[in-house]
Amino acid sequence: MTEFWEKNFKEKQEMWGLQPANSAVITSKLFAENKYKTILIPGVGYGRNAQAFIAQGMDVTGIEISKTAIELAEKEFGQSIKIYHGSVKDMPFDDEFYDGVFSHALIHLLDKNDRINMISACYNQLRDGGQMVFTTISKKAVTYGQGTLISKDRYEQFGGVQTYFYDDISINDEFGSYGLYDVSEVIENYPFYLIKCCKNANNTQDLTLN
Ligand SMILES: C[S@@+](CC[C@H](N)C(=O)[O-])C[C@H]1O[C@@H](n2cnc3c(N)ncnc32)[C@H](O)[C@@H]1O
Repeated sequence: MTEFWEKNFKEKQEMWGLQPANSAVITSKLFAENKYKTILIPGVGYGRNAQAFIAQGMDVTGIEISKTAIELAEKEFGQSIKIYHGSVKDMPFDDEFYDGVFSHALIHLLDKNDRINMISACYNQLRDGGQMVFTTISKKAVTYGQGTLISKDRYEQFGGVQTYFYDDISINDEFGSYGLYDVSEVIENYPFYLIKCCKNANNTQDLTLN
């Protein structure tokens, strides 16, 4: 996985542009409404999504497997984001409890064991009442079913990237024990799910920081 992303960032640099993804804009508004201050972004890439949260006055910490992406983040955005270099498989990288976690388009790249471990590790780093928001590609994407089948709903495609395609059932299976309270659809370059979970709160009215 490291080699795949290193090669891509070296060759294509800021390959999704410098504007944040739609889901980052949506989530940054949700977190701002709740007066969140500290945000963890696993798979932060070169930092384009972090800017949506920083623009709302939040402190962002990232985790990123590609050294080249971290260097691009420093070039584009200076020292405004603290980024741990490593894999989400090795979380936690610190002993902080964050108000919010946002991870865009990473979890579907992992195998089942690593997906469950990532969800659990993110949940463990949330303060009580904090929220984590994941985006993941859906089975409605035209790429679903393309490439080589590795396991149920997981395909190797595009020169080596392995992608798991979620649906309502698998979202409930994997996120259901971690405060899942809302799933919606959002269009990025493909149809994505926006998956919202809250730690130890029964409804979103409990989420605002005082
Ligand atoms: C599809 S890209 C999305 C990047 C970023 N979220 C964005 O939208 O600009 C997935 C990102 O996750 C990073 N990544 C992949 N596997 C990872 C892992 N195991 N741990 C940490 N980061 C990883 C990749 O290097 C890449 O930056």
